[in-house]
Amino acid sequence: MPRITIETEESSYLCDQDDTLLRAALREGLGFPYECNVGSCGMCRYQLLSGTVEQLWLDAPAINPRDKKKQRMLGCQTRPTSDCRIKIRTNSVDKEIDPPKKFAAKLVKITHLTHDMAEFKFFSYTPPKFLPGQYALLNLPGVEGVRALSMSNIVNSDGYWCFIVKRVKGGKGTFWFFDRAAIGDQIIIDGPYGHAWLRINSERPIICLAGGAGIGAMLSIASGYYKNNLAQSSLRLYYGCRTSRDIIHKDYVVDTIRSSAEIIYSNIVSEPESSWTGNKGMLDRFLFESFEGKEVYKSFDYYMAGPPQMIESLRRGLIIERQVPIENIRYDQFY
Ligand code: FES
Repeated sequence: MPRITIETEESSYLCDQDDTLLRAALREGLGFPYECNVGSCGMCRYQLLSGTVEQLWLDAPAINPRDKKKQRMLGCQTRPTSDCRIKIRTNSVDKEIDPPKKFAAKLVKITHLTHDMAEFKFFSYTPPKFLPGQYALLNLPGVEGVRALSMSNIVNSDGYWCFIVKRVKGGKGTFWFFDRAAIGDQIIIDGPYGHAWLRINSERPIICLAGGAGIGAMLSIASGYYKNNLAQSSLRLYYGCRTSRDIIHKDYVVDTIRSSAEIIYSNIVSEPESSWTGNKGMLDRFLFESFEGKEVYKSFDYYMAGPPQMIESLRRGLIIERQVPIENIRYDQFY
C-alpha cells in the first residue's frame, strides 16, 4: 500500500490505491484540510513533490492551469499509484469528530415527502457515529463516482442512516434513488465528513436555514439541538421553496426532530401560486426582515444548507451587512 509522507510536518500515512489522499488521511485521524470532498471548493489542494498519482477529475473546478503547472492537485480527487511526498499544511483535528469509515448499508425504507423529494433510510451493522449536520459519500450501484449527502437523522443505536434526496433532472445519482432503488438494495457509505456540525457548547439560540435537499442537514441539526437539551428558546427553521408543492409538511419535521418543545417552522415560497397565503419571496429577505436592527442578528448561531446562491446571499447579508462573527455561521461548501 502506498505511503504518503507530508514533508512539511514529518508525518506519514498509508493510502489504499482505491482511496483518495484526502480520505485516507482523515481515516488516520490527520487534519487534511477539506470541505466539499467532490472537487469544487479547493480546500484540499496540495503540492506533489515526488511520486505518482491517478487524477480522478482532471478538470475539477477547483484546479486552475497555474495549479497544474506547479503540480498542485486536489486531495479528494487523487489516488496514489506509488509512494508520494506531498506538501500541505494540516489542521488540528476536533476531538469530537470520528474518522470516516467505509461500510455496506441496506435500503430499508423510502418515505416520499413532496412531488420530488424523499427520505431514504439505510441500515448498517456499523453503528452510525456522526455529529448532527455531517455528511457521507454514497457509492450507488451502477453509478460512477460518489454522491455527497447529509444525514437527516442523528446518532442512534438502531443502525439507521437517513438521507433526504431531491430529484435532479438528468442527475444519475437521483435517477438511481427515484427510479432504480428497491428495498434491500445495498450501497457503500463512506463517512462521516463535514465541518458544519452542531456546536453544543454555544449558548446562543440557533436559526436553521435550508433550501432544497439542504433540509436534511438542518433536520439533523435541529434533532441534535433538542437531543442535547440546548433548547432554551424555540428553534427557528426557515425553509425556502420555489412553490408550495415543495414544502415538507410540518408533521414530518416535528416527527423527525422528536421534540415536544415548540419549533418555529417557516416556509418561504419564491414563486407562489395565487392560492398561497403564506410567506412569499426569498429566504434571505425573510431572515433579514425577521428582526429589528442589525445587532440582534449577532445573538444567534446560524446553520445553513442549500443551493450556492442561497448560501452566498445569506453569508453576505450576515457577515458583511450585519457583522455577524464568522464563527457563528456554519455551512459546508458543496460547490
Ligand atoms: S475540492 Fe477537495 S475537498 Fe473540496
